[in-house]
Amino acid sequence: MIAVKDDTEAIRQQIIEAAAAARTFDELESIRLGELGRKGRVTRLMKGLGAMDAEDRKEAGRRLNTLKNQVAEAIETRHRELSDDALDASLAEGSVDVTLPVRPESPGRVHPISQTIDEVIAIFGEMGFTVAEGPDIEEDWYNFTALNIPPDHPARQEHDTFYLPGAKERLVLRTHTSPVQIRTMLEAKPPIRIIVPGRTYRRDYDATHSPMFHQVEGLVVDESTHMGHLKGCLIDFCRAYFGQEDLPVRFRPSYFPFTEPSAEVDIGCTRDGDEFRIGHGDDWLEILGCGMVNPRVLENCGIDSSLYQGFAFGLGVERIAMLKYGIPDLRRFFESDLRWLRYYGFAALDVPTMVGGLDQ
Ligand code: DAH
Repeated sequence: MIAVKDDTEAIRQQIIEAAAAARTFDELESIRLGELGRKGRVTRLMKGLGAMDAEDRKEAGRRLNTLKNQVAEAIETRHRELSDDALDASLAEGSVDVTLPVRPESPGRVHPISQTIDEVIAIFGEMGFTVAEGPDIEEDWYNFTALNIPPDHPARQEHDTFYLPGAKERLVLRTHTSPVQIRTMLEAKPPIRIIVPGRTYRRDYDATHSPMFHQVEGLVVDESTHMGHLKGCLIDFCRAYFGQEDLPVRFRPSYFPFTEPSAEVDIGCTRDGDEFRIGHGDDWLEILGCGMVNPRVLENCGIDSSLYQGFAFGLGVERIAMLKYGIPDLRRFFESDLRWLRYYGFAALDVPTMVGGLDQ
């Protein structure tokens, strides 16, 4: 009878092997019904316990319970394996060939923000800058303190920061791309020459502000870079980006905690009511902030400010895209309106290059 140890052992072995060999969910289900179902073999054996005398029942009951649990477990394990296989197969089947080139006649358009970032990268790439990146969720220290914006500094209020709850280190959605200056200087030794395109966040929403927007940061640190380099580099950038060789560019003294001295860069324009034209004229448009890296920021990153110096700048991608491409309302950038994208978007294969004339 089943109280014999070898019997349960043989049955256990057999069922576990059968379950492991099941190739489909149906096969597995019929094994389960055949063993554990109402009329299943294990169920029937358990029913037989009632006919045994007390002593035998105790021993056999224990054995059969263990058998039942082991069988259930083996079936469950195989079920999980079959599910994983099915998922793998459907992923493999549904995979997209990302190497497939875009068809030129396809209606897809490149978003003006992507296009503008590509143009900025093309210009600074020619000047020897490389692209660096950092996280959108940033620690308070990188976003503010290390950039010489201590906790009680008024600049913190101006940033309308989104704070994230619950973290030990106070976490923010980065309010600018400047924290990547810190991350880069902590990791790399000078000479450093990077630009940092990326998303930034502030609690703001109107025709010229959105809670999520984009900036490009720039940072140069070495032994000899001075204000003349900063001016030359940014004048060249403005003229290349707006495609005007003689575009007037001026540097207006300003203040940023992380640069000293600091300046705002304006380009010449003609204004006629709300309309304006970029180029020679009697008015100015502010387009970016810049300055010589504050020695305190270098020291915060362990860089000896008696040996190294450099410059930094930050510009708003939406702003320069709106100015160049005549886009009036910043909110439309992020509404995913295909009609808008078809109108303001760019052809997918026209990757901006300096030799190609950027947006030609
Ligand atoms: N982080 C500044 C902002 O978001 C922009 C900026 C200004 C960046 C001057 C710089 C800089 O690197 O030197 O308003």
